[in-house]
Amino acid sequence: MQHLRRNRRLRTNETIRSIVRENILTVNDFLVPLFAVEGEGIKEEIASMPGYYRYSLDLLRNEIEELWALGLKSVLLFVKVPDALKDNKGTEAINPEGLMQRGVRMIKETRPEMLVMTDVALDPYSSYGHDGIVEDGYIINDETTDVLAKMALSHARAGADFVAPSDMMDGRIFAMRALLEAEGFKNTGIMSYSAKYASAFYGPFRDALDSAPGFGDKKTYQMDFSNRKEAIKEVMMDVEEGADIVMVKPGLSYLDIVRDVQDAVDVPVAVYQVSGEYAMVKAAAEKGWLDHDAVMMEQLMAFKRAGANLIATYFAKDAVKLLSQN
Ligand code: PBG
Repeated sequence: MQHLRRNRRLRTNETIRSIVRENILTVNDFLVPLFAVEGEGIKEEIASMPGYYRYSLDLLRNEIEELWALGLKSVLLFVKVPDALKDNKGTEAINPEGLMQRGVRMIKETRPEMLVMTDVALDPYSSYGHDGIVEDGYIINDETTDVLAKMALSHARAGADFVAPSDMMDGRIFAMRALLEAEGFKNTGIMSYSAKYASAFYGPFRDALDSAPGFGDKKTYQMDFSNRKEAIKEVMMDVEEGADIVMVKPGLSYLDIVRDVQDAVDVPVAVYQVSGEYAMVKAAAEKGWLDHDAVMMEQLMAFKRAGANLIATYFAKDAVKLLSQN
């Protein structure tokens, strides 16, 4: 048989491969999750996330400078709230002097151009470790969205560029958008965790924030991982309600959803490579079973190939350092 088409010609060497490569990763692809804690001089490693830390705000300032110097321009801020400030209603979540609000102001003072996105959900503030207000063992929807909208407003007032609701209550995007508009925050963006699945891959994150649910699980609000069409329903509704960016979460086990969503919406699509995904790579690499950097880059590229426009990842710094060497 004659070989008129020899596909290997385009794989002959790195030069030709790089010329015909279909997808590229750049520093602009990444959102960097950050964990803040109260106190001073604190940089504590998260046990189940080797190489990842919780910072007090004074040290987080240095981290912001370092990220900016590397070319990373966007952070996704989470806070670990002292137990004494937790209740069922998320009262601390809307405190203008809360850790989140002070954190946003610090970042904006340090690096005004840095795009600050804030996590909006009650779990770090909840005495039950749930994303909303609990009544008779159920997470009540509409009372929760009221608080979430106020929380988003208080983040906007502190200077957040985007709020990022990760709670999965119904109608929360509209509630937030309406309140932000009414209060004059017309340009505050919403990045919605639209297709967020009830996943066991969030384990290390809940260690990081001490936010594991005190009873039950999150399956009455986060999505069933067996479902595909439901993700489209969620993202379409969030776009209608005013989301500027939609997200799929977790990442690697949900690449089919990333592709479906990218094909369905006319807004940018983000994916979150979550804590458990990070932990798996770290653990296998520590054992010498996988090549850390190679696996990391292969996974990050998989998100781009699947259709993600933005990737929230704990590997952002590592990846950017590698990319800058090429
Ligand atoms: C909670 C929230 C979670 C994550 C981001 N926001 C955990 C959860 O839903 O229990 C997970 C992030 C990660 O695992 O990296 N609103």
